[in-house]
Amino acid sequence: MSAQNNQIYLTLNNGIQMPQFGLGVYSIPAGEMTYNSVMTALKCGYRHIDTAHAYQNESNVGQAIKDSGISRDSIWVTSKLWPNEYGEGKTLKAIDRMLGRLGLDYVDLVYFHQPIGDYVGGWKEMEQALEMGKVRSIGISNFDVNDSIFNSLVETARIKPQIMQIECHPYAQRKHWQEMVKKHNIKIECWFPLGGRDSKGEILRDSVINEIAKAHNKSAAQVIIRWHLQEGFSVIPGSTNPSHIRENIESLAFTLSDDEMKQIRSLDREARYFNMTYEDQKRWFGQWNPTD
Ligand SMILES: NC(=O)c1ccc[n+]([C@@H]2O[C@H](COP(=O)([O-])OP(=O)(O)OC[C@H]3O[C@@H](n4cnc5c(N)ncnc54)[C@H](OP(=O)(O)O)[C@@H]3O)[C@@H](O)[C@H]2O)c1
Repeated sequence: MSAQNNQIYLTLNNGIQMPQFGLGVYSIPAGEMTYNSVMTALKCGYRHIDTAHAYQNESNVGQAIKDSGISRDSIWVTSKLWPNEYGEGKTLKAIDRMLGRLGLDYVDLVYFHQPIGDYVGGWKEMEQALEMGKVRSIGISNFDVNDSIFNSLVETARIKPQIMQIECHPYAQRKHWQEMVKKHNIKIECWFPLGGRDSKGEILRDSVINEIAKAHNKSAAQVIIRWHLQEGFSVIPGSTNPSHIRENIESLAFTLSDDEMKQIRSLDREARYFNMTYEDQKRWFGQWNPTD
């Protein structure tokens, strides 16, 4: 990681630098709630926003970016395509519609949101979109179902993904996937970095994390986010609470010791909060499609 302009950056396998820390807007209702969360984040220094077609709030993200007055090229915008948008003859058109919803000329990172449907065919158009300048980086999300699904895309891709977005936090550190991505120089971006809303703050109450937080006069959330950053993960905690949004970015400005990092690593128990089987994912995610 490298630091400039009060941000910390990861260098991706295409040489592009991505702000390592950002705001995620999953499950934030479309409209004012998303607009206000993104605006608050941008005003207090965030330069990376993670949305998705499935979240149905891309237009609010785009509007807040436009109204913020911050130059487009200093904000990293990520969005994700849904499985019904994968395939030759489909994916480039879907990216054009995404640009329309966001009100932008390019997206910094586009993911395939789920490993369902024609992701191999669609990836060819992701590569074309990259070469045409419609997107600057391409990634895969939730391709951690098993090794063969991951390999079926990564090993056939002409242009390898730059990032894989997966659930990852101190209770599920995903050691296997940390190894799997290494040989392709793919970075990991963590969703549910604090455990997600359904965890009801379980990791935030962890006694080891709270001891470390006390020693630094920081909150448990700040310690967890800082652990992600020092592990080399990109991290995009979600929040609609302006004081949490401000608190979370302060994680950029302190350091955990090697011993503290080791203590947090020892909390790993591969306990995920999202546990739907792949069969159920195919059934449920195949039944629902986002509207434009
Ligand atoms: N690719 C995928 O399939 C996928 C799946 C899930 C998520 N994601 C992405 O990852 C992002 C992060 O995941 P997430 O938002 O679901 O989970 P998360 O960031 O782990 O947790 C969000 C929860 O933490 C709370 N929180 C945030 N900051 C806090 C703080 N400083 N102190 C106490 N509580 C705090 C939030 O409540 P308040 O609103 O009250 O602050 C919210 O309930 C998403 O927004 C989305 O962009 C991707």
